Amino acid sequence: MTTGKNDYIFRHRHILGIEQLSVEDIFHILSTARSFKEISERPIKKVPTLRGKTIINFFFESSTRTRLSFEIAAKRMSADTFNIAASMSSTTKGETLIDTARNLEAMKPDIIIIRHASSGAPLLLSRHINASIINAGDGAHEHPSQGLLDMMTVIEHKGKIEGLTIAIIGDIAHSRVARSDIIGFTKLGARVRVAGPATFMPSGIEQLGAQVCGSIAEAVDGADVVMALRIQHERLKDPLIPSLREYSAFFGINRALLERAKADVLIMHPGPINRGVELNPDVADGPRSVIMDQVTNGVAVRMALLYLVLGGERNSDG
Ligand code: CP
Repeated sequence: MTTGKNDYIFRHRHILGIEQLSVEDIFHILSTARSFKEISERPIKKVPTLRGKTIINFFFESSTRTRLSFEIAAKRMSADTFNIAASMSSTTKGETLIDTARNLEAMKPDIIIIRHASSGAPLLLSRHINASIINAGDGAHEHPSQGLLDMMTVIEHKGKIEGLTIAIIGDIAHSRVARSDIIGFTKLGARVRVAGPATFMPSGIEQLGAQVCGSIAEAVDGADVVMALRIQHERLKDPLIPSLREYSAFFGINRALLERAKADVLIMHPGPINRGVELNPDVADGPRSVIMDQVTNGVAVRMALLYLVLGGERNSDG
């Protein structure tokens, strides 16, 4: 599959971050995802495209959406999938990540999908083993498939990303979704604003292309998209806010705040939502929310990634 330019070929064997993807790569992944999306609407939700391929989901952190949608994506394309949770693996007996990965490699998987608390774990694996590596979230670094499904969802509703104003609110410092979204939306020509408590604002975030706002009102003013992020408690050594009640009062997204945004603003959240903390339930479930569309598009984007890292049409028999 090409983007219309005959000379374009998707050349990535690994998906480690949005940072490594060109604008052309991103559009190619999204157009491939759009073409796969209808498979999930069929009565028989299965195509033979990845028949005979072996895919391992190796998750060192908990996940609902990412792990399940990678597994559904693989099964809808007829790949054989296997799940291994770190808590049930021999890493609990002292085996290193590299040794574990080498042992997985010896069983000849085609793709290993990894989520890990350490930034750079997927990159490390990609340097030591031959299978394709897909980053399903590494520490506070990147969550590329989430960034891609967020871009797909915005394009689906707005028809474009270029020229839009996207406000990302909350725990920017510890969020891999924030980094992937800032990098991706900026690459595609959006203005990305970030806002949150000072303790959740990493120094140097402007270098990724984001504009740091002094208040959430400033960030949301005239925005086309408002994305709420949960506090990443699992990455905090010490509490960085006085209380959740105070956080919600100053940084929670509610209907009154959204009066400042464009009338057709999209409300997004990568999940899991902490209702009443970063997002009020009437906004999460309201008419401008596209949160469930993000989840639906996650399957299509992950089908596209599995297909493309294995060579796409060049290697497809279906
Ligand atoms: N958005 C996301 O990564 O959700 P999970 O942690 O449930 O996979």
